[in-house]
Amino acid sequence: MTDPMMRELGLILLSVLLIFATLEVVASHGDQPLSTISVQKATFALHHQAYIKVSPTLLGLKGQNTDWVTVEFSSPNPSVEDWIGVFSPSNFSASSCTAPADNPWVEPPLLCSAPIKYQYANYSTPKYKETGKGSLKLQLINQRSDFSFALFSGGLSNPKVVAVSNKVAFSNPKAPVYPRLAQGKVWNEYCEQFFTYPAYYYFALEIIQLKSDSQMTVTWTSGYGIGEAVPFVEWGPKGGQPIRSPAGTLTFDRNSISCTISKDYLLKTRNALPELFLKLKRHLICVIMLMCSGEPARTVGWRDPGFIHTSFLKELWPNTLYTYKLGHILSNGTYVWSQEYKFRASPYPGQNSLQRVVIFGDMGKAEADGSNEYNDFQHGSLNTTKQLIRDLNNIDIAFLIGDICYANGYLSQWDQFTAQAEPIASTVPFMIASGNHERDWPGSGSFFGNKDSGGECGVLAETMFYVPTENRAKYSTDYGMFRFCVADTEHDWREGTEQYQFIEHCLASVDRRKQPWLIFLAHRVLGYSSATFYADTGSFGEPMGRESLQKLWQKYKVDIAIYGHAHHYERTCPIYQNICTNKEKQHYKGAMNGTIHVVAGGGGAGLAEFTTLNTKWSLFKDYDYGFVKLTAFDHSSLLFEYKKSSDGKVYDSFTISRDYRDILACTVDSCPSTTLAS
Ligand SMILES: [Fe+2]
Repeated sequence: MTDPMMRELGLILLSVLLIFATLEVVASHGDQPLSTISVQKATFALHHQAYIKVSPTLLGLKGQNTDWVTVEFSSPNPSVEDWIGVFSPSNFSASSCTAPADNPWVEPPLLCSAPIKYQYANYSTPKYKETGKGSLKLQLINQRSDFSFALFSGGLSNPKVVAVSNKVAFSNPKAPVYPRLAQGKVWNEYCEQFFTYPAYYYFALEIIQLKSDSQMTVTWTSGYGIGEAVPFVEWGPKGGQPIRSPAGTLTFDRNSISCTISKDYLLKTRNALPELFLKLKRHLICVIMLMCSGEPARTVGWRDPGFIHTSFLKELWPNTLYTYKLGHILSNGTYVWSQEYKFRASPYPGQNSLQRVVIFGDMGKAEADGSNEYNDFQHGSLNTTKQLIRDLNNIDIAFLIGDICYANGYLSQWDQFTAQAEPIASTVPFMIASGNHERDWPGSGSFFGNKDSGGECGVLAETMFYVPTENRAKYSTDYGMFRFCVADTEHDWREGTEQYQFIEHCLASVDRRKQPWLIFLAHRVLGYSSATFYADTGSFGEPMGRESLQKLWQKYKVDIAIYGHAHHYERTCPIYQNICTNKEKQHYKGAMNGTIHVVAGGGGAGLAEFTTLNTKWSLFKDYDYGFVKLTAFDHSSLLFEYKKSSDGKVYDSFTISRDYRDILACTVDSCPSTTLAS
């Protein structure tokens, strides 16, 4: 072969390698960091000279649910690839592994489950490779079980356990933790909670219909199962007489149906809490949901989810400050309490008062101690969380519109996310929408047949967080002068579907005299986006998105549609059928004649590129992490702001000033035809 031919071949080979490298980066985007560990390949190579020890052994002594430990370790054969895995429960050996169901002759793997977090041994000790000694500070949260730590050699792809630590635990691992507030279904309107999940992945063992005429719901996690303790919320106006409301309990299982409400339990409940017994009988729920047949959710990613309780608080006084505590009455009559939290009751629909809403998508979670870092996966979520907490006195309700924590089938991550979001979610209603990383799985009924949920199929999201839905993950919710119609882009939205009917009903049924601000929310971009991955398809949005829904947005005069999924910020002009309907860019007055579309997917997960193509409907783009805030001052005045997560400052904004007559004003395709008859 001649030299030029060799060079040409070399260049081709280099190009192929570069393409593969690029594909690798693209493919890894959105992966769960724990998925980089080849858990099934792990072997034991314990070495008598190696050690790992952790202190203190008892955590949360002041009642806190987050604590720090110091990990000290040593290996006689140190390497830069050595890493520390944190396991919970502490017993992570083969004892609970089983052989694959379809082949009993195959030996079960030595490790059954992924660590709940990991860090490289040289992270805080750069000289670990030379000295063989190192230490780490790691943050743990109360996750219902004890913890142990293991030193691994062989990197993440060929892990070998070299040493195992002592066990550490929180003083009460079962404690009620991480409350999440959410708006209830209606204001004092009777309504039945009815479960209509598809039978192929949910089994409802016993469902007691629930009267959920509540304005605020509190959902939390504990280690106390049905039969062990009675869950409730003690709450009341700040400084006033507290009352107690019972809670339902949900859990789910990996492989089997194992939960019942026994006679024994009902008897224990009656004895423990006679005054609430009658109410409780009405409110008990025990729904067993099976994970869909996906890995890793049912294999190495599985972790017992504990018990998820929801209480429905009723007859709240609008805008009144309430305090609350989570409680469990054990069968011996003793009480277990959480710390005290507070929230302000939502305004009555239509109420004229200052109302402030934050909206963002694709947040994810990250570890404050730097563990699980992988391609800077979701580090931005810590900044977003920090800014929202800093501004919490000026926030009334929050929406996280899909791709919540990217657990992707590693269930421990949901606890860690609820711990990270606790300061926000325990104080203001924290409303979620369903994203691909919560729901999508082949053959499970999701509109998209990819594996982004890691086998969760929506079970985790729909259990860990309450939404006021009639069916699955779509819902409408009113907050004062706002009506939010929250779509579920992981199920079909096209004309003729149940979801299309729901969206039309939600948009059509609001009284715009009382609730002038009509907001459409969805995870995937159903409207307009300049993200490269949408632009490359030529559709600048989810295919079949605006083709299906734009006539509804136009007919019902949706003010703003906000999406996630594309990890950055973008705002369009008021638009209908690809044409800007208003030349103004910042201070809209009177009829807008179209809907403003916003992408707010920069909540924290790795950023997405914009196309270099010029999209003339795009008024503002920002390749950064951030969130949007809507402030309704009254029925005629709305402020929209985009803030960066890095500093919490406003980088884009616009105002809308208009009256009810401007909402009535006819524009293209927004009014029915009129008759000439008088
Ligand atoms: Fe997404």
